Amino acid sequence: MKKITKAVFPVAGLGSRFLPATKAQPKEMLPIVDKPLIQYAVEEAVAAGITDLVFITGRNKRAIEDHFDTAYELEAELEASGKTALLEVVRGAIPKGINCIYIRQSAPLGLGHAVLCARPVIGHEPFAVLLADDLMDVDAGQKPVLAQMTDLYTQEGASLLAVQDVPRAETGQYGIVRVTPYKPNLELVDSIVEKPSPETAPSTLAVVGRYVLNNGIFDYLEGLGKGAGGEIQLTDGIAALMKSEQVLAYRYAGRRFDCGSKLGYLQATVAMGLKHPQMGKAFADYLEQLK
Ligand code: UTP
Repeated sequence: MKKITKAVFPVAGLGSRFLPATKAQPKEMLPIVDKPLIQYAVEEAVAAGITDLVFITGRNKRAIEDHFDTAYELEAELEASGKTALLEVVRGAIPKGINCIYIRQSAPLGLGHAVLCARPVIGHEPFAVLLADDLMDVDAGQKPVLAQMTDLYTQEGASLLAVQDVPRAETGQYGIVRVTPYKPNLELVDSIVEKPSPETAPSTLAVVGRYVLNNGIFDYLEGLGKGAGGEIQLTDGIAALMKSEQVLAYRYAGRRFDCGSKLGYLQATVAMGLKHPQMGKAFADYLEQLK
C-alpha cells in the first residue's frame, strides 16, 4: 500500500462566517492562543509523515505563505537583541525537511474545485486533505487524527472520511453519510449527501475536515457541476468515486473544534489555553475566579 506523503490544505475560502475579522486576513491565520489555525493543521500533517504540503490559496491569503517562509528582518532583529527563545519560536513555525507548495484557486468555486486544483502536484498518489478550520485535539499520548487515518489507510487502502455524530438540527452544515457497520470505529459508506436538511438527512453522521483520498477522485471532480450552495462540492466527487470503489467512514479518536464558527473558535481557545504549557495554570486560575 502506498504511504501518504502529500497533503492538500484548501485555504481559498472567503471565511464569511468570521467577518469582519476575515475581511483583510485569512481565516486560517486566526490564532488559537499563540499559533494560527493553519499551523495546528500543518503540525498534525507533519506528525502523520506528510512531506509535501500543498496549499490551495486565493486572494488575501499571502499571510499564509509568509508564515511558512523565512522572516529575515525579524530573525535578524531577534538574533541581534539576543532573544534566542523567540527566534526559535519564529523558526519553529517552518517545518523542517518539508516542501510547501502554493497553488492559486482563481475563484472560490467550492471545496471540490479547490482539491482539484492540487491535481498537477499530487500526480498519481493517494493524498490527505485537511481543513484547517477544523482543529483536531487529542489527549496526551494519543495519535493525532491524521496519523490515525494514514495508519488505517495502509491497512485498508480505501479512501477514508473522518466522521462524528452531530445533532440532527445541524445536518445542513455538513456532508452526511449513511453507513453499514464494518469494523470498530470504521464503517462502509453507502451514500453521502452535502448539507441535507434535518428532515431529509439519511443519518446524523457528519464528515469533518480530515480526508485520505484515493487518486481516482480527481477524475470525478473534473467535470463536476455545481452542487449544494452553488459550489463544486468535494462531497459530490466522493459520491461519484463510490460508484467505482468502497469509501470508509472513520470515527476518529479525539475532539474537534469548528473554528470556522465563532462558538467553536471560542471553545478551542479555552481548551487550548488550558493546555498551554506556559499559560495553562494561570488561565485555569482566572476561569476559576469567574465562576
Ligand atoms: P468553508 O465551507 O468553511 O468556507 O470551506 P469558507 O469560505 O472558508 O467559510 P465561510 O463558510 O464563508 O465562513 C471549507 C474549507 O474549504 C476551503 C476553505 O478555505 C475552508 O478551509 N475552500 C472553500 C476553498 O479553499 N475554496 C473554496 O472555493 C471553498
